[in-house]
Amino acid sequence: MSILVLGADGYLGWALTCRLAATVGEPIIAVDDLSKRRRVRERDSESAIPILSFDARMALLRQVTARTDLAGIEAGVLDCVEELVREHRPRAIVHLAQIPSAPFSMMSLAAARETIENNEVGNMAVLFAIRDHSPATHLVKMGSMGEYLGCGVPLGEGDVEAVLDGEPASCRIPFPRSADDVYHITKINDTNFIAMACRVWGLASTDVMQSIVYGTRTALWLKDPRLATRFDCDPVWGSVLNRFVAQAMSGTPLTVHGGGTASTGLISLTDSVAALAHWIARPAAPGEHRVINQTTETRITVLEIAQLVQRIARERGIEVELSDVHDPRHERGRQSRKGPARNLRLRESGIPTISLEQGIRYLMSDLAAHRDGLGAASLLADVDWASGVPMAEANTAADSSADYPLTMSNSS
Ligand SMILES: NC(=O)c1ccc[n+]([C@@H]2O[C@H](COP(=O)([O-])OP(=O)(O)OC[C@H]3O[C@@H](n4cnc5c(N)ncnc54)[C@H](O)[C@@H]3O)[C@@H](O)[C@H]2O)c1
Repeated sequence: MSILVLGADGYLGWALTCRLAATVGEPIIAVDDLSKRRRVRERDSESAIPILSFDARMALLRQVTARTDLAGIEAGVLDCVEELVREHRPRAIVHLAQIPSAPFSMMSLAAARETIENNEVGNMAVLFAIRDHSPATHLVKMGSMGEYLGCGVPLGEGDVEAVLDGEPASCRIPFPRSADDVYHITKINDTNFIAMACRVWGLASTDVMQSIVYGTRTALWLKDPRLATRFDCDPVWGSVLNRFVAQAMSGTPLTVHGGGTASTGLISLTDSVAALAHWIARPAAPGEHRVINQTTETRITVLEIAQLVQRIARERGIEVELSDVHDPRHERGRQSRKGPARNLRLRESGIPTISLEQGIRYLMSDLAAHRDGLGAASLLADVDWASGVPMAEANTAADSSADYPLTMSNSS
């Protein structure tokens, strides 16, 4: 039996592939179409931490782990998943091969369509391949905490008990899902299709509602730094905390959009990957759609994240300002209605977690050696989400006193 990792060249995928190679005896088939590298290059950006080519990093991984059963395949999900599942009948498939950017998905019809087709059709291809060729395979799929509707109560873990007009529902119902960008809507649709596949076809799936991931550390980082995973800090591909730390380390003000009232969850890369390995080792049952809220910080506002980064940067002698001039998502004055996320399954798993403060300190020290690559952290946002107008124009119209151009961050 083997483990198939789709999206293995990405930020999470490479960290997971290294962890599995170091800890699990089964053969690993690592698949990626390298589209992330292309999309990032198209925006004149690149991973702030240098990474080897996919072939070279797979070869190095084989060498460092002394394994010959680690295969790297450069292919798109649609082109290869049916054949791979038929041929190998893997014990588990980890599906991470999606376009993960809310800002990208809001740029233009072309980008929205690319996100919808890549994410939703790719997910369907994985589900049909399992149904038709290997129904016992356990699917571990990366969803997003951003799927949930903020409605003033804690975010249930997938489903909740419901009462309407005093009548209790006869079964648990899905926690309401709603999103304000195309990318997160593709995630919601994926969840619906996976739930259907479990109910109707009897598939087994762990559907991970992943909060924003931050950090750099991978299982084999210390053995060979060339096994680093990618690190994006530009406005389209970088996520909020990674960007704030990159901005701090490059002496750029932290761009707190709309006053930072939006709230989110956070988890370190190490903890996220450890949790994925845990779910792979303990599969869902046939027919089970097991939803995990994968977050360690269950509710924190963007302003609180920025203030924490500012304080920890000060410990290193770095003074950074916060800039809340711009508001590409039109969030100013809107209080977040997101309650804290329930994360019972993650807590019960006993996976060790690092504190947010410690995680930020690690990230700062890891980025210190890569200051030259952090220029993308200060790049400008492209598009105002409501109007589609380039940010410079939108901001001039909204606030003529703007003295520092704000950037857009990804709230995966
Ligand atoms: N990073 C986060 O903070 C975060 C938070 C929540 C959810 N997620 C989800 O986790 C998953 C991985 O995220 P990431 O941050 O590692 O993203 P990433 O872009 O770094 O990795 C995705 C990888 O998949 C590949 N890929 C995309 N489409 C493909 C296709 N059709 N065929 C083959 N390969 C393809 C890309 O080349 C890339 O290497 C995504 O589904 C994302 O939505 C990430």
